[in-house]
Amino acid sequence: MVVSAHPLASQVGAEILSRGGNAIDAAIAVQFALAVVYPDAGNIGGGGFLVLRQKDGSVDALDYREKAPAAAHRDMYLDQEKNVIEDLSVKGHLAAGVPGTVDGMVKAHEKYGSMPWRDLVQPAIVLAAKGFPLTKKEAKKLNQQRADFLKYNTQRPSFILQHRWHEGDSLYFKDLARTLELIRDKGRAGFYEGPTANLLEAEMKRGKGLITKADLAAYQSVWRTPISGQVGKYRIISMPPPSSGGIALIQLLTIAQDYPLPAWGWNSVKSAHLMIEAERRVYADRAKHLGDPDFYKVPVAGLLDTAYIRRRMYGYSPGEATDSDDVYPGIPAPPESPHTTHYSIVDTQGNAVSVTTTLNSSFGCKVFVAGAGFLLNNEMDDFSAKPGYPNTYGLVGEEANAIAPGKRMLSSMTPTILEKDGKLYMVIGAMGGSTIITTVYQIIQNVTRFGFTMQGAVSAGRFHHQWLPDWVLAEWGALGPGTGVGLWVKGHKIAPKYGGIGRAAGILVLPDGRLEGGADPRGDDAAAGF
Ligand code: GLY
Repeated sequence: MVVSAHPLASQVGAEILSRGGNAIDAAIAVQFALAVVYPDAGNIGGGGFLVLRQKDGSVDALDYREKAPAAAHRDMYLDQEKNVIEDLSVKGHLAAGVPGTVDGMVKAHEKYGSMPWRDLVQPAIVLAAKGFPLTKKEAKKLNQQRADFLKYNTQRPSFILQHRWHEGDSLYFKDLARTLELIRDKGRAGFYEGPTANLLEAEMKRGKGLITKADLAAYQSVWRTPISGQVGKYRIISMPPPSSGGIALIQLLTIAQDYPLPAWGWNSVKSAHLMIEAERRVYADRAKHLGDPDFYKVPVAGLLDTAYIRRRMYGYSPGEATDSDDVYPGIPAPPESPHTTHYSIVDTQGNAVSVTTTLNSSFGCKVFVAGAGFLLNNEMDDFSAKPGYPNTYGLVGEEANAIAPGKRMLSSMTPTILEKDGKLYMVIGAMGGSTIITTVYQIIQNVTRFGFTMQGAVSAGRFHHQWLPDWVLAEWGALGPGTGVGLWVKGHKIAPKYGGIGRAAGILVLPDGRLEGGADPRGDDAAAGF
């Protein structure tokens, strides 16, 4: 089974599985297919994380996160008075980090792939060259981005020639198809060298960006040891730094385990209050301690120590909200549409792959590499541009996540796999910037503690708190009857989140061995299987 953000990408992955491919083969094909049919976040110009659990129980994690270019420096988004220049790390060429996706897919294939590489890239080439029908939601998003595409591109991307997109229109990416052909035929060299590298460097020069051919040649994705922890009956396997996701998720689940949430009720005042107070503390840890482990000594063992996690709840009062500003001052930022995309795969052997991949914001920095047809990320905004200054998700950071050449920016992406009694139980992850962690957290709780089905858990309403800014974002209907008022009485500030919090893709292994997909109704997401 494959669950992804786009029905065509899920179909591509299921087709690879039905031809005998394994979960990694399917993941590679889905990654490239999403780069075509879901350009909001699917990508070859971005990066991501992959968590794998093989049928024999062995686990691995691939970090293909973008890196800061060699010419990047700590104060690159500050003016002469050391104030952050609005939007410089979010839109346009300077916002892009060195892409990691293609190297990541090549490394995943070298270590675990079973089908020929070209067969995995080919379905994306067909989609890009022959075109595919736009969904209603995708047509709307392209129309919303038109002004930014015109403003930030040095040469007009061909699909902007169409003034307004409608559901069912065919979208083609001819330049992208040619770039994918180079990747199909030359692997890593098809992207990091030759014509694609030349076009990317030329694009950067025209737009005053920093990425050079030397940056591309130097980029390497890395295999890392997954973060894992036992919480009750479940073993959580997730992404280590430079993601904050795995650590934060295990901290949140460990705290929740100490309280009788099922007896208190799903999203009741008591349950929601406890979860918010835990989130406030866990996101404060994130801001202080998390960054690229290749540059900063992240105290992983200390952060995952159960006694430490329990101590973090010191000061928690069942009766009232803690004020985040008493702990650390924050400057709320207007949120840019958070993006990223997640897909979950289980193959016929029982191998499982959980992948979250991203351009950061919707359509990244809005810049297409002219002639090569792919969008670039704006992942540089995930660094802390200045200590305590919030990024586009309102997240703050310090030294651990300061900009440095060749460093990876901190992430919230949380591709996760759960075991129960030593057996594969769930594959889960989500999009949604800073809300990824709390989305994955709530879905796992919904299934493991409240007895939801996979689909029910993914569909259920969500809320989110991230320490700073000090408010609870809540989807319409997420908080049970009276919960909103009850939380307000305790002193929580609650803001409605229109358009949804996160978008998740999950697979649950049922007791009889069948798989249940959870595809998020907040998007066009679809499960495909056989
Ligand atoms: N760009 C979103 C994240 O990595 O957390």
